[in-house]
Amino acid sequence: MNANPLAPVWLEQPTDVNALDARIWPDGTTRRESGELEIGGVPVNELASQFGTPLYVIDEATFRERARHAKSVVERISAEHGTTAKVYYASKANLNTEIAHWIAEDGLGIDVASGGELAGALAGGVPAARIGLHGNNKSLREIGRAVTAGVGAIVVDSEIEIERIASAAAAVDRIQAVRLRINTGVHANTHDFLATAREDQKFGIPIKDAPALVAKIRAERHLKFIGLHQHVGSQIFSPDGFIESSRRLVRLHAQLLEGGEIAELNLGGGFGVNYKPADQAPELEVFIDAIVRAIADECKALQIGLPALAFEPGRYIAGNAGITLYNVGTIKDVTVTDGVEPAVRKYVSVDGGMSDNARTALYEAEYHAVLASRVSAAPAALARVVGKHCESGDIVVLHEYLPADVTPNDLLAVAATGAYCSSLSSNYNFLTRPPVVAVLAGTPRLLVRGETEADLFARDVRFQSEATQNAKANGN
Ligand code: LLP
Repeated sequence: MNANPLAPVWLEQPTDVNALDARIWPDGTTRRESGELEIGGVPVNELASQFGTPLYVIDEATFRERARHAKSVVERISAEHGTTAKVYYASKANLNTEIAHWIAEDGLGIDVASGGELAGALAGGVPAARIGLHGNNKSLREIGRAVTAGVGAIVVDSEIEIERIASAAAAVDRIQAVRLRINTGVHANTHDFLATAREDQKFGIPIKDAPALVAKIRAERHLKFIGLHQHVGSQIFSPDGFIESSRRLVRLHAQLLEGGEIAELNLGGGFGVNYKPADQAPELEVFIDAIVRAIADECKALQIGLPALAFEPGRYIAGNAGITLYNVGTIKDVTVTDGVEPAVRKYVSVDGGMSDNARTALYEAEYHAVLASRVSAAPAALARVVGKHCESGDIVVLHEYLPADVTPNDLLAVAATGAYCSSLSSNYNFLTRPPVVAVLAGTPRLLVRGETEADLFARDVRFQSEATQNAKANGN
């Protein structure tokens, strides 16, 4: 059968539409003899009937294995070059207090970007010393809270923050460790909205302005400058941008050593993962090896010692550990005639959408989906998995081949939704946000309950005051 002309060139028509690509799904994801998908030893039909759909499922073993692997890779490669390294999980990728607890238990640090994330990390038991606070516009309250909690580092993102952090530290008579975020001007090869170190954006300090700001930090009695920071972008597939940016950072680091010692260098996160079978993300080792090698070379050339290193992977740890389960609702075969030849695209609507996965709408992200509740012997049909929101851009999976007999009440599983899906979720169209369930060794565990209609009105003042009045009228 010929491929559908509406399919992008990278999308291969699968020979087996029921197959599972082990590089994308959580470790050990398989099909039972009955044909249904099993994640963390739990069959998806059981998950759907116990918790409903849409449902975020996190495979605990995969998440923690990735976290531990990141830590050991970073430590091993840094040790080979004669230095130490820390890993901070970027909690914006996916955070609840159980995830924070895993991170704490597995010995990683955590990177937070708001007072809310800070509260989540602390509530999950992450020691404050292992927390780093980021953000281009931290409020005085967030800074005060971080300093009082005793966070290990605050990343200065603009000049005005120097005095803000210094006075918060002075108020509680502490010395607060700070890093300075540098915009190295290197444009990493990713979606424009995900590239954070090109010139024309809001994060960091240009290299040329850094020496004056570091001098200012060093002059503050209540601040301790511990090093430079960069984050070149997210979902990056080539080490090249990291290498160039890291070299620039080391040259600045060397220049700043003239004013005093600098303990660390923080290289940020951004390591890409596979979302679909056509993706070829390098192993984490490839990135870390290239970055550490470039830093070591540059330090050698400049005749300076190698600082302690730090990395902040988010997606690498969370992305492939999570999936989303949906129930199929309506299905439409839409004939598209504006191509070279008319072709049919099967629109498969599911019971969630851009409120539980905004990434397709935001970044034209590409996902991979399979029929999860059963296998099918039907031929593959080009499909688009869409949500139930009132927007044509409400798309979950832009391009996928699904079995032609996909039918209402089937379960669909979308892979690699562990990063930036629940954290970017919303209540658009007054949909309730899905529960988050962890699976491990055959047992599901609810981490975050699903929202209810009562949650939707919990902040609605008129609704609440009427409810109070009604309760009073009924004598309650
Ligand atoms: N460190 C800093 C300072 C960051 O800003 C970020 C992500 C990370 C680390 C972690 O990056 P990762 O390893 O996860 O790529 N919502 C977008 C991604 C935004 C990333 C923002 N910063 C998405 O869904 O692709």
